[in-house]
Amino acid sequence: MKKRIAKLRDAREVMLRLLVPDDKEQLLSMVTNLSADALVWSNPPYDEEKINRWMSGTKSGLSIVAIFENRIVGISAIHQFTRPRERGVGDMMIYIHQDFHGVGLGTVMTENLLFLAKNKGLHRVGLEVVEDNEAAVRLYKRFGFEIEGKKRDAYYGADGKYHNTLVMGVLISKN
Ligand SMILES: CC(C)(COP(=O)(O)OP(=O)(O)OC[C@H]1O[C@@H](n2cnc3c(N)ncnc32)[C@H](O)[C@@H]1OP(=O)(O)O)[C@@H](O)C(=O)NCCC(=O)NCCS
Repeated sequence: MKKRIAKLRDAREVMLRLLVPDDKEQLLSMVTNLSADALVWSNPPYDEEKINRWMSGTKSGLSIVAIFENRIVGISAIHQFTRPRERGVGDMMIYIHQDFHGVGLGTVMTENLLFLAKNKGLHRVGLEVVEDNEAAVRLYKRFGFEIEGKKRDAYYGADGKYHNTLVMGVLISKN
């Protein structure tokens, strides 16, 4: 993926590029600065172990970051499975800093990520999302993700209540 500039709905411009090994500190900084609201439907903790797992995405070419004023403000990645019976199948994740929510960054990152995945010959991208995470569910549906199942009470929320999660997926090749 070449570096590209994306103009957001509020006229700010961010640069999109692949995640590189030097991004680790920046990524850790973004994640530790996510607000409680941004993390409300997420799956903490976001510790070094999780960041190290995200950093392994530098090898696959399927992890992209958004940069604004030299800092990472979003990450989106597909983890491609390696077992033969999961050929062409991967799981997607996306996190955007709260200062950039609702202005189209999730949309532009997902568009670029799925384009990369298609070019790499992936067949299916799946994910699991809390049913109440309206922004995320809308975003995924917009890119053709379908609800394939519902897990009842699979997520224990910050509100001390159980919530359903949705299993979603999109087929991006016909092979
Ligand atoms: C979910 C997330 C990636 C969406 O990214 P975003 O940049 O805010 O989304 P966009 O501005 O591109 O909008 C995407 C869609 O969500 C809708 N949306 C945005 N914010 C919304 C909100 N607060 N409530 C309901 N819908 C919302 C938009 O209207 C748009 O839908 P449309 O195309 O049908 O109009 C972002 O909010 C985020 O990082 N959240 C925290 C982490 C998270 O929950 N990740 C997903 C875990 S599975």
